[in-house]
Amino acid sequence: MKPFDITLALTSIATAASIPSTSPGCGEVDVIFTGLPPYHPLVTSQGFNATEVDIGLRADAANIVKAGYNLRVVLMGPEQPLDVLADQMTGVDWDVIGVGYGVRGSRLENVTIRFAGK
Ligand SMILES: *[C@@H]1O[C@H](CO)[C@@H](O)[C@H](O)[C@H]1NC(C)=O
Ligand SMILES: *[C@@H]1O[C@H](CO)[C@@H](O)[C@H](O)[C@H]1NC(C)=O
Repeated sequence: MKPFDITLALTSIATAASIPSTSPGCGEVDVIFTGLPPYHPLVTSQGFNATEVDIGLRADAANIVKAGYNLRVVLMGPEQPLDVLADQMTGVDWDVIGVGYGVRGSRLENVTIRFAGK
């Protein structure tokens, strides 16, 4: 399995679990990624090109899977309750959690407030 060196378009990994002393095998690392859907109005209103974001996210996801990681992607805007993401995270001990730059780098309080949890 390749090291996790993929540069995510909007989306570099925000939180990575500690690296275990022995390398895990293919299909043993669970990665969950969340962020804004590429064509969400808040993507373009924050100055990003939705088409390029879409292409980037798809390429990143394909590369992560090709590198041997298990990937779940949960794209949602602030109009979706955080319970949607919580439900998607339940039942898996995630090794890597990624948050897209459209959320992480946002200056919109209704987006960044989501880091506060509930
Ligand atoms: C967004 O990117 C696509 C692909 O590069 C390009 O064709 C399109 O013109 C861009 N749109 C804007 C609004 O810049
Ligand atoms: C979040 O704030 C932006 C900018 O004020 C606004 O356009 C958007 O509708 C808001 N979204 C929600 C779900 O409140």
